[in-house]
Amino acid sequence: MAILVLGGAGYIGSHTVYELIDAGRDVVVADDLQTGFRAAVHPKARFYLLDIRDRAALDVLFEKEDIEGVIHFAASSQVGESMSDPLKYYDNNLHGTMVLLSAMVAHGVDKIVFSSTAATYGEPERVPILEGDRTDPTNCYGETKLAMEHMMSWVSKAHGLHYVALRYFNACGAHRSGAIGEAHAPETHLIPLILQVPNGQREKIMVFGGDYPTPDGTCIRDYIHVSDLAQAHILALDYLIRGGQNDVFNLGNGVGFSVREVIDCARNVTGHSIPEEMAPRRAGDPAQLIASSRKAMDVLGWKPEQNSLEAIIASAWNWHKSHPHGYEA
Ligand code: UFG
Repeated sequence: MAILVLGGAGYIGSHTVYELIDAGRDVVVADDLQTGFRAAVHPKARFYLLDIRDRAALDVLFEKEDIEGVIHFAASSQVGESMSDPLKYYDNNLHGTMVLLSAMVAHGVDKIVFSSTAATYGEPERVPILEGDRTDPTNCYGETKLAMEHMMSWVSKAHGLHYVALRYFNACGAHRSGAIGEAHAPETHLIPLILQVPNGQREKIMVFGGDYPTPDGTCIRDYIHVSDLAQAHILALDYLIRGGQNDVFNLGNGVGFSVREVIDCARNVTGHSIPEEMAPRRAGDPAQLIASSRKAMDVLGWKPEQNSLEAIIASAWNWHKSHPHGYEA
């Protein structure tokens, strides 16, 4: 039987497909290439170009392939865009998941691992954040992801769907082979933007806010390597296959780094001075986001392996310096 990875041409999806294939699994990828890249899809995966809102295309796939479980990454994921174009997020994320779940129910596919986010929490009540803490998203992206979690829960009650939602903190880094890595257009994430400076594509990095209530005044985030995230999806799917209960898990390293610390670390890794400039706060940024991933460790047996920021940035740098234009290089 095969694992269906929806959004398997995107950043975290493509890394999960590589880990699944390395583990000897049979993998089917579906992606509409809205933000993903055909070149990111592992050559051993069977590829379907489809939009998950297209029920007829999903029916063809589920009839043709023998699917054991689904890993669902197919969603829009830019916080800023979700605020200026919220209906796109309701359509791609919520409507897309609705069509997907209805197709799964119709074809008797009952296991799904779902890509959720720390943005479901909004401004945290405390750090490290636990899964049972208040969820009160401050942006439409987080709102749609939380609603997708709720949708799975109701479909589970009605139709026996089994699901795990994985709430990631700040995904970063690239695959050890150097074959795939992070490529967004436009790029909004801190580490790839910092690395554009030593790559000669940007003069300096802007620091969004130096007056947060943190030791150096800049925002603190929990940076987690994409390959560690990928492993968690495989563990979550195997947990469901073994009969595990529906659940939600945080995925982070449990250690926070400030924007300034990340820039300093990138200076050490690249040997470049990387000039920085202070800019106003970016709307909607919480001061600190740090995960407690205790539950994923205890229940799923997850253990992030790349927990040094230096190793994470070195792996990102390895990708960006050899692919300065992402998959177009
Ligand atoms: N930052 C800068 N300068 C930049 C870019 C980012 O100072 O040029 C700062 C941001 O203000 C933030 C930190 O770097 O404090 C990290 O920003 P990212 O954009 O890399 O990541 P976010 O923490 O905003 O977002 C991540 C995920 C989202 C998810 C969110 C949860 O990318 O998908 O965490 O809050 F929704």
